[in-house]
Amino acid sequence: MPQVAAADWGVEGDAVRVVIVGASGTMGALVSEALTQRGADVLRAHRGSGVDAQSGAGLAQAVVGSDVVVDCLNITTQSAAKAKAFFGTAATNIAGAAEQAGARVVCLSICNAADPAVNRRMGYYQGKAAQEAAYAQRLGDRCTLVRTTQWFELAQTMTDQLSAGPVALMPHMVTAPLAASDGAAAIVDEVLEPSGRHAIEVRGPQEMDLVDVARAIRSAHGKGGWLIPIRFGGAALRNGALIPAHADVVTTTTLDQWLAASN
Ligand SMILES: NC(=O)c1ccc[n+]([C@@H]2O[C@H](COP(=O)([O-])OP(=O)(O)OC[C@H]3O[C@@H](n4cnc5c(N)ncnc54)[C@H](OP(=O)(O)O)[C@@H]3O)[C@@H](O)[C@H]2O)c1
Repeated sequence: MPQVAAADWGVEGDAVRVVIVGASGTMGALVSEALTQRGADVLRAHRGSGVDAQSGAGLAQAVVGSDVVVDCLNITTQSAAKAKAFFGTAATNIAGAAEQAGARVVCLSICNAADPAVNRRMGYYQGKAAQEAAYAQRLGDRCTLVRTTQWFELAQTMTDQLSAGPVALMPHMVTAPLAASDGAAAIVDEVLEPSGRHAIEVRGPQEMDLVDVARAIRSAHGKGGWLIPIRFGGAALRNGALIPAHADVVTTTTLDQWLAASN
């Protein structure tokens, strides 16, 4: 892993200094780009840049001098033990580094994933619950969770992960999906105009099953083969429990608009 040097904040003056942990990922890259466009001074952190949030290596050096740390970390696992160890440890490490630097934290999470009724059969969501709890315990109101519903992009990722030849599987997930770029805009708003709230809930404009999102993506891409809907992760994923009861932000990009823009 490359050695990380102490942060070299480039922009002079009173630009907000933001460290994005997980900046090379889907959401981290969108948030980094959008924050830079709005005049923030952004430091992109991930293992490739010498910052390992789980071991803590390079974290304190990256965060020193920052105003806000944004947690956009992810791990691909359905193991509850692995997900809890990763998200819980990384959140504790980031909270410690942010506390020392006097920075706030904005952490990206998932609507209702911390609810035991929703995550009982979802090891990954239990990891997100551990992440939320670690921040609440260490930072209290110095951390705001921006929870979003599932992104349109997730349907693509899941069918890619669950495909063999012409056959792809897609779990039923009834949600109010959104474009990841709209989620990024909500995170950027929270970074630049802090609400002081424990959590902000963000959902998309229409309720639908991610199976239908996956079908629409395949059809837009002219993809043949078979998409097979499956039951996975417990009934809560199919009965609407992923949709927040009260949304603070309802995003505007519809599935059709997102498909048109991504083609
Ligand atoms: N997909 C959805 O629908 C959805 C909805 C709501 C919330 N979320 C949440 O959004 C978050 C981000 O998801 P994403 O899909 O954007 O992630 P992603 O594309 O998988 O990217 C993950 C990022 O984490 C970094 N990373 C992983 N392990 C690391 C470590 N030990 N130290 C430092 N960096 C590390 C990766 O970089 P390196 O590999 O280079 O280190 C990468 O930058 C997740 O927490 C997820 O729960 C997702």
